[in-house]
Amino acid sequence: MTTPTTPGGGDNGQRILVLHGPNLNLLGTREPSIYGAENLEQINQRLRMRAQAAGADLVAFQSNTEGILVDRIQEAGRDGTDFVIINPGGYTHTSVAMRDALAAVRMRFVEVHLSNVFAREPFRHHSYFTDIAVGMICGLGAKGYELALEYALQAGRRN
Ligand code: DQA
Repeated sequence: MTTPTTPGGGDNGQRILVLHGPNLNLLGTREPSIYGAENLEQINQRLRMRAQAAGADLVAFQSNTEGILVDRIQEAGRDGTDFVIINPGGYTHTSVAMRDALAAVRMRFVEVHLSNVFAREPFRHHSYFTDIAVGMICGLGAKGYELALEYALQAGRRN
């Protein structure tokens, strides 16, 4: 028997968007000593299962293109998304446009980085996102997404 769900959402209606920026499609083969051996689909699958168990709907989206990520953030402002978990990848350190999009749609979000960006090159120490994020998790590998998801689930629906 299937459990009835709210159209477009899990059975509690909460919608969570996980956004992955450039090069994160290469996880698993990309510098595994820094980013781990798991690929993006494995990470996304675990997040979807956890969200589903909590009655929420989780959609994951990856792009290597800044404008496409801006468009997806704007869409999240219109499609009932309650919370965003975002790893902006290299755009963390460059993208005023993605920051502006998140601010424009007044989206609550947690910023996640697999690696500890503060233990790396100085250009990775600045983020255009952290000061407008609810919080930031870095250095915990894929576990960081899971912790961000636990936060998002308890944060509930957007009012
Ligand atoms: C990253 C850190 C960024 O500096 C880098 O450009 C990435 C991945 C991380 O998850 O650790 O692409 O966001």
